[in-house]
Amino acid sequence: CGIVAYIGPKDASPFLLEGLQRLEYRGYDSAGVAVVAPATKSAPAKLRVCKAKGRVADLAAALPARFKGTAGIGHTRWATHGVPSDANAHPHTDNEGRIAVVHNGIVENADELRAKLAADGAVFRSETDTEVLAHLIAAHRADGGGLEEAVRAALKLVVGTYGIAVLDAEQPDRIVVARNGSPIVLGIGEKEMFAASDVSALVRYTRQVVHLEDGELATVRADGFRTFTEDARTVTRKPSTVDWEVGSYDTGGYAHFLLKEIHEQPGAVERTLSGRLNERFATAHLGGLNLDARELREIRRVKILGCGSAYYAGEMGAQLIEELARIPAHSEPASEFRYRNPVIEADTLYVAVSQSGETYDTLAAVQEVKRKGGRVLGVVNTVGSAIARECDGGLYLHAGPEISVASTKAFTSTVVAFALLALHFGRIHDLSPADGRRIVAGLKALPDQIRKVLEQQQEIEALAAEYAHSRGMMFIGRVRGYPVAREGAQKLKEISYVHAEAYPASELKHGPLALISPELPTVALVPDDELLDKNLTALGEIKAREGRVLAVAHRPVEAKLADHCLVVPKSEPELDPLLLNIPLQLLAYHAAVALGRDVDKPRNLAKSVTVE
Ligand code: G6P
Repeated sequence: CGIVAYIGPKDASPFLLEGLQRLEYRGYDSAGVAVVAPATKSAPAKLRVCKAKGRVADLAAALPARFKGTAGIGHTRWATHGVPSDANAHPHTDNEGRIAVVHNGIVENADELRAKLAADGAVFRSETDTEVLAHLIAAHRADGGGLEEAVRAALKLVVGTYGIAVLDAEQPDRIVVARNGSPIVLGIGEKEMFAASDVSALVRYTRQVVHLEDGELATVRADGFRTFTEDARTVTRKPSTVDWEVGSYDTGGYAHFLLKEIHEQPGAVERTLSGRLNERFATAHLGGLNLDARELREIRRVKILGCGSAYYAGEMGAQLIEELARIPAHSEPASEFRYRNPVIEADTLYVAVSQSGETYDTLAAVQEVKRKGGRVLGVVNTVGSAIARECDGGLYLHAGPEISVASTKAFTSTVVAFALLALHFGRIHDLSPADGRRIVAGLKALPDQIRKVLEQQQEIEALAAEYAHSRGMMFIGRVRGYPVAREGAQKLKEISYVHAEAYPASELKHGPLALISPELPTVALVPDDELLDKNLTALGEIKAREGRVLAVAHRPVEAKLADHCLVVPKSEPELDPLLLNIPLQLLAYHAAVALGRDVDKPRNLAKSVTVE
């Protein structure tokens, strides 16, 4: 979900709508805005709210022409609890329609608070936990203090996570925002102020921002802001400058963010590697791990945690760590791990993977590990995000902002980050200088090799058009190739809605071979490594059942084993999965386009799932 807020001399609505559009990738099933319409001779200042189910464009269409006010808040929602509807869309208001609230996060004790408020006369019009906040703040506002006092007092009663922005028709000179577990960032303009849940909404207006910390609130006025804690202690926050380019938030001539981000991968990988390769000692220099060589040598196991593509990137990471450092490593969905009472061991290193740094399941898994005394590193893209802050150390991807819901460049940069980690661990464990040099050279060559794969876009587009209309697709790979198959299938499912299944090629004959027919084509990863012959045998099994095969390989596969073959440049065997994955991104992208899908905003999904 996304939050925006504006206060200044101008009309708030244009900023609110544009800001929401920029945040739409975070949720897009309903949206809403509220402004304080100024007092007239005959009427006092009044709150006006407009909400609509659907996209921000639907909200813009529904907005009355005279929806004016110089202070306003807005929200774009992704429903997890409560269906997407006009009523459940934010902002939510109190009985009198005086207080408006937009909220990201979950109020865990909403039922209890709702019952108390209802007993005191609050009338609830939605199923959301956010509406509870509006009534609660209104109740405290009646105590006589200002808006910030009321918000502060209300939040003391709330159990859960929130990023909120609150508007009060009786104090239209301010907006109060608060953060606890869900980000809020203030944007400082010229005699105007902005706030949002994500800098992407702000960068067109200002580069000067202030990130609130958990447990902090801020009063935002046209001419400045004041930050304070839940105990009313004033805190001083110095603004920082956003270093990501404004262009990162535009499609920049590409048809979709996804295509742009696929093409940004060479640069993203260069940034992930930048300053981190130590050629002299054939190792990686990783300054942020907060672990010295002795502590690292004591690690007996690595457990990687992430969700979705982050989990699959973790599988590639685990493979790299085992191969290069010879430390047993395993990746597990953070969403499962946190619920199964996992054994936390002192000599296991936990690694949390997240592009956004906000995924709630991953954050909860990190907290669970830490509660039990484990040590967690973060492999995260978003600097200063909740997961990054919760971890004991780690490495940032520096992949740049990723807007499209399906992850591409962050995925690739994550695997590169794991290669660095594996190289670093390896060189103090069990990796020879010669092998270290081999990996360093392999990593350095990656950006150009990715460019080579991207040059095959037209060919892949033609193949995608051919395969997109299949009933479903099978993706197979072995050992290093298996996580590639899983991520390839995931990408296709996410954005084209074509059913896809990933299997280890070795397991085909133990079940899924029964599915193989001309209607269910197979994408096969066939790297030129020690398993080449085995992989070719699997292709023979598929062809014998009249299955169609698209091979992704290092050299052409003979026509009797594959109908089509995409040849990608060869890297070092341990790094090959990175390059084998790139054509699968383009395949999914072009299949989705061929089927007319909403590529950047696939149905039912959101970029960051910040709730359970
Ligand atoms: C959501 C997205 C996925 C993403 C996952 C993890 O489910 O739809 O594309 O892989 O979250 O996101 P993270 O920001 O933690 O990497």
